Amino acid sequence: MRASTLFGLAAATATSVSALPHAVTARDNNPGCTADSFGDFDWTISDIVYNTSIVFSTPAHQIPSGIVQFNLTNPALTYTADCKAYSTQLSGFFYGDIIYKCTEPSNSTATTFTFNAGTSLLNVNQTWTCSDEDAEYPDTFTYAGAVNLTMDCTKTSYQNPDWEMGQIYLANTSSCTQEDVVVKPYLATAIA
Ligand SMILES: *[C@@H]1O[C@H](CO)[C@@H](O)[C@H](O)[C@H]1NC(C)=O
Ligand SMILES: *[C@@H]1O[C@H](CO)[C@@H](O)[C@H](O)[C@H]1NC(C)=O
Ligand SMILES: *[C@@H]1O[C@H](CO)[C@@H](O)[C@H](O)[C@H]1NC(C)=O
Ligand SMILES: *[C@@H]1O[C@H](CO)[C@@H](O)[C@H](O)[C@H]1NC(C)=O
Ligand SMILES: *[C@@H]1O[C@H](CO)[C@@H](O)[C@H](O)[C@H]1NC(C)=O
Ligand SMILES: *[C@@H]1O[C@H](CO)[C@@H](O)[C@H](O)[C@H]1NC(C)=O
Repeated sequence: MRASTLFGLAAATATSVSALPHAVTARDNNPGCTADSFGDFDWTISDIVYNTSIVFSTPAHQIPSGIVQFNLTNPALTYTADCKAYSTQLSGFFYGDIIYKCTEPSNSTATTFTFNAGTSLLNVNQTWTCSDEDAEYPDTFTYAGAVNLTMDCTKTSYQNPDWEMGQIYLANTSSCTQEDVVVKPYLATAIA
């Protein structure tokens, strides 16, 4: 019945927008969305990369750059959140104090994270809405999770002994990878 007419769903969606605390027009109505959001729920965080580099183009000019990225899979959703953050902040790059937004193809889903490179603590929050069981009164889920990563890092260090203008004076890089991790939320709220 829920899949009977797309128009019916669209109409129900449109009329219930004003009843929601925030305006949401696109929702996840894949079968199982609601059921998979309850119960033995966990996220899978995959393709985790944390890279940094500090390059001195002259002895006095340094160019720091750090990137952290991963994909977050929610069993209730048909797509993954693509999470990426850049930093030029020396010397730790990521201190867990900035909330970064992930991108995903649905605007009813919002995924955010913080990362502390010093402690390797990754925090994630995700909000999503399922309308597969009830298009008129969809469920909105907001879950929070955290994991201490155990990354494998490879560092390289290069210093140019005969530096001349136009050459690289010093370059330190670090490249860290991490096996996929399964994260159980420590906080889960659902609003019907
Ligand atoms: C969400 O996406 C739908 C469908 O793509 C679009 O019609 C709607 O304007 C978007 N809403 C917001 C708040 O961006
Ligand atoms: C991570 O997610 C992005 C966006 O969905 C996708 O393009 C990319 O292929 C994913 N990475 C891997 C290794 O699956
Ligand atoms: C997650 O949500 C909690 C509660 O709203 C907030 O305190 C925290 O800063 C959020 N963290 C992230 C990574 O968005
Ligand atoms: C991460 O490690 C810290 C310090 O050992 C610990 O207090 C915290 O509970 C851990 N967090 C998670 C999510 O495992
Ligand atoms: C670069 O790496 C070397 C070797 O680990 C270290 O001694 C040096 O302090 C690093 N320099 C910078 C600017 O990070
Ligand atoms: C991270 O560093 C590794 C090793 O240099 C490189 O292969 C990879 O493409 C880098 N990834 C990103 C996202 O910078």
